[in-house]
Amino acid sequence: MTDPVTLPLSLAGLYADPQRLAEARALAERLGLPLLAEVGDSACLRLDQTGLALLPAAPLGPLQVDFVAGQMGHRRRFGGGRGQALARAVGLKDGANPQLIDATAGLGKDGLVLASLGCSVRLIERSPIIAALLADGLQRASLQPDLADWLARRVRLHPGDALELLPRLCAEQGADVIYLDPMFPERKKTALVKKEMRLLRQLLGDDADANELLACALGLADRRVVVKRPRLAAPLAGPKPDLVLSGKSTRYDVYLRH
Ligand SMILES: C[S@@+](CC[C@H](N)C(=O)[O-])C[C@H]1O[C@@H](n2cnc3c(N)ncnc32)[C@H](O)[C@@H]1O
Repeated sequence: MTDPVTLPLSLAGLYADPQRLAEARALAERLGLPLLAEVGDSACLRLDQTGLALLPAAPLGPLQVDFVAGQMGHRRRFGGGRGQALARAVGLKDGANPQLIDATAGLGKDGLVLASLGCSVRLIERSPIIAALLADGLQRASLQPDLADWLARRVRLHPGDALELLPRLCAEQGADVIYLDPMFPERKKTALVKKEMRLLRQLLGDDADANELLACALGLADRRVVVKRPRLAAPLAGPKPDLVLSGKSTRYDVYLRH
C-alpha cells in the first residue's frame, strides 16, 4: 500500500475569507496559485482572520506558523533559555548576542528561539509558500505587545535561495554565525517524524544541496557555522565539525572559523 505521507504535495490554490480578498489576490499572483471559491478535498492555502494556513489533504491537519501560543510559545518561555543545546551551539554565552543568519529558516522555530534569546536573526527561506507562512506568522506575532519590540529590532525575513543570498547579506553586514538545518534524510519509521516535518518534506522534498550550502557558509561566517542533524546521521560532507552537541534526537555540528 502507498504511504500517503510520502506523496508529493501540490496545492490546488488559495482560498480567502471575503474580508481578505485583496491581500489574497496579491499573494495568489505572487505564488502563481489560482484563487479558489471554496476549500475542497485537495491541499490548498487558506487566508482568513486567523492568518495564512496550509491545509493539506486528510489525514493531516492545518499548518500555521504561530510564535505566540502553542508549542512555540511554550518553547520560548520554557525551552531552557541560553542553557539549551541550540543556544550553546551558536555560542550564546557570557552575554554574547551574535549576528546570525538562519539560512534554512523553514517555519522559523529555531530562528525565533535564538532571536528571543538576544541574537539578531536574518531568516532566509527559499520556498515561496513556506516564506509566505513565515511572513504571516511574524506579522501576527508583531501585534503582540511583548514580542513587537524585539521582533522589529532583531528579525528580518529574506525570501530566496541562501546560495544566492548569503554572499550579498554577508557583504552588507557580516554574520557571526550561519545556522543550517537542511531537511533531514528520510527516516524509515515515519511515525517518528513530526507532522510538520512530514508536511515540509511532502511540499519541498529533500534539500539535496545541503553540502554545497555548508561549503558556502564556511567561506562566509565570521565565527562559526552550526548544522542541525539527526542525532545518528552522518555529518554533512566537508571538514570535520570542531564541536558536537548531542541531544535526545538532534545533534548540532559546530564548525569554528577563528
Ligand atoms: C528542516 S526545515 C528548517 C526548519 C527550521 N529550522 C525551523 O526551526 O522551523 C528546512 C528548510 O530550509 C529550506 N532550505 C533548504 N535549503 C535552502 C536554501 N539553499 N536556501 C533557502 N532555504 C533553504 C527549505 O525550503 C526548508 O523550508
